[in-house]
Amino acid sequence: MANYKILENDIKLCRKCHLRDTCNQVVPGDGNPETEIMFIGEAPGAEEDKQGIPFVGAAGKFLNQMLRTINLKREDIFIANVLKCRPPANRDPLPEEVAACWPWLLEQIQTIKPKLIVLLGRHAMERFLPNQKISQIHGTALRREIDGIGKQVFYALYHPAAALYQGSLRETLLKDFKRIPKVVEAIEKSGEIANVQKVKAEPENRFEEKIKQEKLF
Ligand code: URA
Repeated sequence: MANYKILENDIKLCRKCHLRDTCNQVVPGDGNPETEIMFIGEAPGAEEDKQGIPFVGAAGKFLNQMLRTINLKREDIFIANVLKCRPPANRDPLPEEVAACWPWLLEQIQTIKPKLIVLLGRHAMERFLPNQKISQIHGTALRREIDGIGKQVFYALYHPAAALYQGSLRETLLKDFKRIPKVVEAIEKSGEIANVQKVKAEPENRFEEKIKQEKLF
């Protein structure tokens, strides 16, 4: 916890890219840094930028609702974004912004050491499971080896903001979300698995062609 507080303060002081010139404040993350489950979204929106906390707008309320369906609260998990500063008018993150912010996310993961990382939406998915389609891999737990992290299980879901008002996506997201406890259970049972290809998690490898990963669940 003490380590995480130091990291959080460093993140708050970040000026590595131009996004800090237009946002109100840096939004490092929220929740329990000693959790087993870490959620990663895209970037702060207007409400997050105002409050300094991720997922506090409409998508965040939906996320809280989904957490309750699996008997979890925000205090039980940790949540962060690929970008810690709001892009102007909520535009998509630029590759150079993702690259500048990546060391913070990497350090958060190294400090928290979650059993499971839940990727919310395609921007978070692309960072760790490049060149894939969220429509194909949502609800599938995949174990990969990432430079600086090691073997890690990822579980990609549709972004709550995308699913909020779309009936069929919403149903799919709710169904995938309810499987999170089973995924954690499967990780606990699975132990170490050999022959996982090492994937460098550098921004230039985001669109790498050949990916080998292991379906866990
Ligand atoms: N969407 C995200 O991806 N992150 C937030 O913090 C809020 C909305």
